[in-house]
Amino acid sequence: MYRQQSDGPMKVFNNVLEMIGQTPMVKVSNIDTGPCELYLKLELMNPGGSIKDRIAVSMIEAAEQQGKLKPGMTIIEATAGNTGLGLALVAASKGYPLRIVMPDKMSQEKVNNLRAMGAEVMMTRSDVQKGHPEYYQDMAARLAEENGWYYVNQFANDANVAAHYNTTGPEIWQQMDGNLDAFVCGVGSGGTLTGIGRYLREQRDDIDLVLADPAGSILEPLVNRNEQVEAGSWLAEGIGEDFVPSICDIQLANKAYAISDKEGMQTARMLLEKEGVMVGSSSGTLIAAALQYCRQQSEAKRVVTLACDTGNRYLSKLFNDEWMRSNNLL
Ligand SMILES: Cc1ncc(COP(=O)(O)O)c(C=O)c1O
Repeated sequence: MYRQQSDGPMKVFNNVLEMIGQTPMVKVSNIDTGPCELYLKLELMNPGGSIKDRIAVSMIEAAEQQGKLKPGMTIIEATAGNTGLGLALVAASKGYPLRIVMPDKMSQEKVNNLRAMGAEVMMTRSDVQKGHPEYYQDMAARLAEENGWYYVNQFANDANVAAHYNTTGPEIWQQMDGNLDAFVCGVGSGGTLTGIGRYLREQRDDIDLVLADPAGSILEPLVNRNEQVEAGSWLAEGIGEDFVPSICDIQLANKAYAISDKEGMQTARMLLEKEGVMVGSSSGTLIAAALQYCRQQSEAKRVVTLACDTGNRYLSKLFNDEWMRSNNLL
C-alpha cells in the first residue's frame, strides 16, 4: 500500500535547497541477503539526484561564513559530476557562476545535465593521476589560482565531512532505531566514510564500517592488507581512488571488498529489476559489497548502505546493452 495521509502532514518547502536530506530508507526485500537485513538509504531522492547535494550546501555556506566566497564570485570544482550538480543547485539559487572540471570517462547525461543548469563544463583526461597538470583536481586548483575563482575542493574540505557527520549519520542511526551492525560505503572524496563512519562509531564502537571499492582502486588493498599498490582503472563513476584524500579517515574502515565493474553494474541492473530502485554504477558497487558482506555472516545483522545517485544518469552506459556488451560487462 502506498503512503496514506495518516502518515502525517505533508510539508510545503520554500525552495529546493530545503528539500535536501531526510531521505527515505528502504529494506531490500526480493534479493538474497543471507541471514541479514539490508537497508538502502535513498540519497538519489535529493533534489539534485545524489548524496552530493548535502555537501554542496554545506561547503558553500561554510565558504560564505569564512569570507572565502564573496557575492558574484565564480565557483570552480573538480567532480565526477554529482558534486557539480549539487553545486549547480546551490550556485543558481545564490547567484554564483559555476565552472566544473570533469574527467572524460563520466556519462554524457551528467555533462548535459550540468550544462542545462547553467554550469560551464570543462572536460579533461581520465587516464592521468594526481600530480599531472591535466588531472581534474590539479586543473581546477590551477584555474582557480589563475583567475581568482573559489575552488571548493571536496577532497580537502572539512564542510564535506561535517555535512555527513551532522545530517546523514544521525538520520541513519535514527531510521534504524539505534539498532545497526554495519554500514557499507565507497570512497570518492571520503566525506561519507569519514562523516557517517565517525558519527556511527561514536554511537556504537564495534560497528562494522565496510568499504566498497572498485577493483583497480588503491583503497581495498590498503584497508585489508595495509598494502600500497599502483592505481589501475575502473568504470564506476565517483568512487575508487588513486590517492587517499586529506579529509578521508580510511582507518575507520575495518573491512573492504574489491568489486569488479561487471559485478557492480550487474548488481545495479538487478536492483532495478527486483526492487524497483534505479541507481548508478557506484551504488551498484556498494550494494554488491553489501550483499557479499550480508551473505558471509553467520548471525543476523542489520546493514545499511547508500543508493548514492539515480541510474537515470547512466542510461547511455549501464542501462544500455550495447555499451555494456562493448565493455564486456554483460
Ligand atoms: C556517485 C557517487 N559519488 C561519490 C561517492 C563517494 O562519496 P564521497 O565523495 O563522500 O567519498 C559515492 C558513494 O559511495 C557515489 O555513489
